[in-house]
Amino acid sequence: MASLIRLLGLARELWPYYLGIALAALATAGTALLTPFIIKAATDEIVAQTRGGGGGVGVLVSFAVALLVAELVATVVSNVGGYLGDVMAVRLRAILSSRYYAQLLSLPQRYFDGQLTGTVINRLTRSISETTQFFQMFSNNFLPLLLTVFAVLVVTAAYSPWLTLLLLVIYPVFTWLTALTSKRWQPLERRKNEQFDIAGGRFAEAIAQIRVVKSFTAEARELAVFNDRYARTVAITHGQSRFWHLMDVARRGALALVFFGVYAIIFTSTASGAFTLGAMVLLVQLVAMAKQPVTMMSFLVDSSQRAIAGSRSYLEALDELPESRAALGADAALSFTRPTDAAAPTPAVPPPWPAVPDAPAVEFDHVSFSYDGSAEVLRDVSFTIAPGERVAFVGESGGGKTTLVNLLLGLYRPDAGAIRVRGVDVGDLPLERLRAEIGVVFQDAALFSGSVRENIAYGRPGATASEIEQAARRANAHEFVARLADGYDAEIGERGIKLSGGQKQRIAVARAMLKDAPILVLDEATSALDSKAERLVQAGLEQLMADRTTLIIAHRLSTISTVDRIVTLRDGRVDEVGTPEELARTGGIYAELLALQASASKADRRRLQAYDITG
Ligand SMILES: Nc1ncnc2c1ncn2[C@@H]1O[C@H](COP(=O)(O)OP(=O)(O)O)[C@@H](O)[C@H]1O
Ligand SMILES: [Mg+2]
Repeated sequence: MASLIRLLGLARELWPYYLGIALAALATAGTALLTPFIIKAATDEIVAQTRGGGGGVGVLVSFAVALLVAELVATVVSNVGGYLGDVMAVRLRAILSSRYYAQLLSLPQRYFDGQLTGTVINRLTRSISETTQFFQMFSNNFLPLLLTVFAVLVVTAAYSPWLTLLLLVIYPVFTWLTALTSKRWQPLERRKNEQFDIAGGRFAEAIAQIRVVKSFTAEARELAVFNDRYARTVAITHGQSRFWHLMDVARRGALALVFFGVYAIIFTSTASGAFTLGAMVLLVQLVAMAKQPVTMMSFLVDSSQRAIAGSRSYLEALDELPESRAALGADAALSFTRPTDAAAPTPAVPPPWPAVPDAPAVEFDHVSFSYDGSAEVLRDVSFTIAPGERVAFVGESGGGKTTLVNLLLGLYRPDAGAIRVRGVDVGDLPLERLRAEIGVVFQDAALFSGSVRENIAYGRPGATASEIEQAARRANAHEFVARLADGYDAEIGERGIKLSGGQKQRIAVARAMLKDAPILVLDEATSALDSKAERLVQAGLEQLMADRTTLIIAHRLSTISTVDRIVTLRDGRVDEVGTPEELARTGGIYAELLALQASASKADRRRLQAYDITG
């Protein structure tokens, strides 16, 4: 329950809606309650008239008119409430969804390492829709329900305390039985949802990498895994639903017994003359009205349980620490902006860099790191890179080169030691500031669906058309873009699937070009390309590297041989640091690689590949 209240608190600006809906609900219930009283009065009037008394046809017609008015008022008011409910639900959904997305975007890389994308998405959809539905139902039904119950109890008490007592028994008994049902039903529902989430996660993953699935002809296998998860949900549902319906028989059986007593009292008391015919008609109607809330109550308990479960997993994600605090100590979490109709906010200008004169551009100072807390990937790594210097990193595949980049970007925090950028510890910098300083070209271009223009402009929102074109020219991308049917407006498909690897990578280079960060990281930027595409991309990269401090993880010795210095890694430690000429003579890893390259033997080629190097 506390979790639901916290959720409401997240959307507290919707209070006028809650109030409006509540008032509309009260008015609807009030007018609905009038009807039995009007019918009672009409019945008594008719009885009087059949006995020769009463006030004539006019009175009867006026009762009918009263019924008509009550009905019309109820109709209008309930529709106003319905409208408010719809708007409230969709706004609540917008707020909760946006809050969740903002939170996910701000979570540290480590959080995503342990989650399937589809699972994260599924959870958003289910938690939020169940919570929203519950609030809508609660506001539309709970208040009229309370009002009805109250009126029924008061009116019946005026006629017969026994009736009231009987009716009073129903509510707690029914709620208790429902709660019993829920207690066993809920854990099963959670287990089912887990299966749905896992299946959904795998589904999204397989579809996103459909080419891999197809190339391994793994369609049947993927489907089997998926089907297995759904089969488990079916298996769980058998027991779960059987139990629920058995309990429902018990609940409704108990209800029927109570109502048997209620009707017996009403009928016999009327026959004995204790109640008038009109009173009987009134009581029968009220009792029928009292029955509705009972079943509604179980529905309410049920959906509130779901909403509680949903809101818990929602809040769990919200309670994860955003990366700026969890990973780095600076308090610059993505600030949450509430969804409005306004256009996207203009990007904030990063705060000024706390200048440290004569500092190296990048400095790793006795850095140790492990992803899982046990297997150390980096041990006591130290090196410095001077401004404008070009440094290559060489080490075996899995040797921690990408990990260096991850740490530099502040995606993870080192276990020991410090990383400084231009003299400032990255832990002391707001992440936006740090990342504005560093441009990265990854092995996989990782573009977004949308146009070429949008993808290049991702590097600097608000860039003009000519800036975009200039970046594309320097990245060696302009020519092929100009040849596309729609030029810069050409849609490139999800993750750029409509472009070749080399084309995607040149767009990625243009994107980094536009970002124009002083420090550049190339993590195997061309290793996924064939040699022709590689030459085209390399030409763009040369432009990008000009006048920039660059960290290069390359897969060609020819690229490595042109850098200012090389850092070699062995067993997670820095092995050697020196110019290519120096390291060629020391007999270390780099010298060995050069020798291997000169050799024509197959075994030597394979050795090279262990270093992610292709001749
Ligand atoms: N997100 C991660 N979680 C756990 N282990 C990881 C993660 N990323 C990489 N590793 C492990 O860290 C080691 C270094 O990986 P990486 O830095 O990617 O190597 P390189 O880029 O030199 O090939 C590898 O053993 C790899 O399995
Ligand atoms: Mg790597």
